[in-house]
Amino acid sequence: MGLRKIKKKINKFFYTRKFSKKNYLANISKKSILITGANSGIGLALTKKILALDNRVLATYRENFKNLKHIKDENLTIIKYDQSKINDFKDLESKIKETPIDLIFNCAGVFGGSFEDQQIEKLNFKKFQEVLMVNSFSILKIMQIILSNKLSTKNLEVLVNISSDAGSIELNNQGNAYIYRASKSALNSITKNMSLDLNNRFKTIVFAIDPGNVQSGMNPGGHMKSEVCANLIIDLISSNLKPLNGKFINLLGEEIPW
Ligand SMILES: NC(=O)c1ccc[n+]([C@@H]2O[C@H](COP(=O)([O-])OP(=O)(O)OC[C@H]3O[C@@H](n4cnc5c(N)ncnc54)[C@H](OP(=O)(O)O)[C@@H]3O)[C@@H](O)[C@H]2O)c1
Repeated sequence: MGLRKIKKKINKFFYTRKFSKKNYLANISKKSILITGANSGIGLALTKKILALDNRVLATYRENFKNLKHIKDENLTIIKYDQSKINDFKDLESKIKETPIDLIFNCAGVFGGSFEDQQIEKLNFKKFQEVLMVNSFSILKIMQIILSNKLSTKNLEVLVNISSDAGSIELNNQGNAYIYRASKSALNSITKNMSLDLNNRFKTIVFAIDPGNVQSGMNPGGHMKSEVCANLIIDLISSNLKPLNGKFINLLGEEIPW
């Protein structure tokens, strides 16, 4: 085994150990939960676990719902919603009108091309705009749908944006990945703003989570299984949520600098 592989194995061992937990809290049931980016990775794992806890799930996908369609559960509603398209929300709107939402897990996200494609010389600004739409602005569109239809704001208890430590301005010590970093920094800014605005108006708890290094469509070689990540997210939202409002945290609830 080469040195690089050994180093990766050691990193993975310590990483997994840091996030290992014997018992997970799972204190959510009988809620209506909107999960974006639900056909793969963290969104799919959350969808399965949250359904198993006896909740209603409105699960959105971009184009293909090949994983969601295997879930046989009457509490699952599958909705097509391409978050890069500002005007493609009618289906989502009609489903939200039928089902007031208690919680939102905003998982949808894209990396925006390879590291090489995100070098200044190669930046494609059309792609950049699309990634900003998906990773950052679309959560505002979802809230706009809810607020402009005067829907469910008294029910909306929690909004969790799945962000990334790559969006932390303070932690950035590597450069590059302009598109991804900027989109997650923007999401963080929107999260903080919503945590003041929505909390003042509706007592909604809003925070951002860095899910860490998770095996998924975006990161097939990730250290942590998406099921473990989902368990940790559910564990986090199963305890006292008030202190989390306006925070950027990792899966153990530790704060990350914005
Ligand atoms: N995995 C990690 O290590 C890691 C680390 C830090 C942060 N994150 C964040 O975690 C979140 C979940 O990602 P993941 O790791 O679970 O990767 P993933 O498996 O690729 O999931 C991302 C989901 O977003 C959906 N999506 C992409 N473009 C979309 C669009 N235009 N409209 C609607 N949905 C769209 C994808 O759908 P399609 O499959 O149809 O494209 C996919 O279901 C992302 O926000 C990501 O930035 C992940």
